[in-house]
Amino acid sequence: MDLHLKGKRALILGSSDGLGFAVAKAFVEEGAKVALCSRDKKRIESAAQSLPGTLPFICDLDKSGEGKKLVEHVTQSLGGIDIIFINTGGPPAGTFATLSLSEWQKGFEKLYLSAIESIQACLPGMKKQGWGRILINTSTAAKEPISSLVISSGLRSGLLGLMKTLSNELAPFQITVNALLPGYIRTQRLKELGHSEEEISKEIPLGRLGSPEEFAALALFLGSEAASYITGQAIACDGGKLKGI
Ligand SMILES: NC(=O)c1ccc[n+]([C@@H]2O[C@H](COP(=O)([O-])OP(=O)(O)OC[C@H]3O[C@@H](n4cnc5c(N)ncnc54)[C@H](OP(=O)(O)O)[C@@H]3O)[C@@H](O)[C@H]2O)c1
Repeated sequence: MDLHLKGKRALILGSSDGLGFAVAKAFVEEGAKVALCSRDKKRIESAAQSLPGTLPFICDLDKSGEGKKLVEHVTQSLGGIDIIFINTGGPPAGTFATLSLSEWQKGFEKLYLSAIESIQACLPGMKKQGWGRILINTSTAAKEPISSLVISSGLRSGLLGLMKTLSNELAPFQITVNALLPGYIRTQRLKELGHSEEEISKEIPLGRLGSPEEFAALALFLGSEAASYITGQAIACDGGKLKGI
């Protein structure tokens, strides 16, 4: 299937490693022009070296104003943005009893405000060109809250509300908005959370963790012309982990 991604301009947030890197690689392989971003100069430059043709940008999306500046710089460098993959590092783990108000505040800035800011900054260009793909990375915790990840669970459910509302508002401009819900995908984040792979695998009908490439295949499709009639959806890539239909 031709995904018609050749020459499309994609900004992949949080892409020096993990899910973001795999998504960037998938778009590069389909001929898209890709901008990468992360906080660490060395890591993002090394990611760009391993994906020839990509442009690295240094940006800390946790800080107010950084997402807007990044979108402006990328728009100048690529001549516009057709596809944006919204993504940052995960918030701290913990139950409601263990997390402070300031951790909630930081989590909100990291996961929610950074998404709003980057999306807002992309919209004038996408509306003008009458085409856009907004992909919001969340988690299966958005649909089935995980008690040890209360910040992620609380805020990511809210991101699904934002995604659905935006999808209706932007449909007249042929801009689609969808959320991706990774389950357990083998990345550094998963290692840092300290889960036992054997225990996790028992919860997953397919009996194993997912690979970043399996997740990236979903992002690639949703970001393509082939997904032109899919908007306002929250789609999991989780080996069947979510129990609800
Ligand atoms: N892996 C899973 O199974 C899974 C499941 C559900 C949800 N998620 C969520 O999906 C997101 C990505 O997960 P992952 O597994 O890919 O994590 P990861 O392996 O830790 O990678 C995170 C990426 O984001 C960048 N990053 C972190 N904070 C940033 C910031 N403030 N500004 C800009 N870039 C930033 C990191 O690069 P630098 O360190 O160079 O900045 C890195 O490239 C996280 O929010 C995670 O909670 C993951």
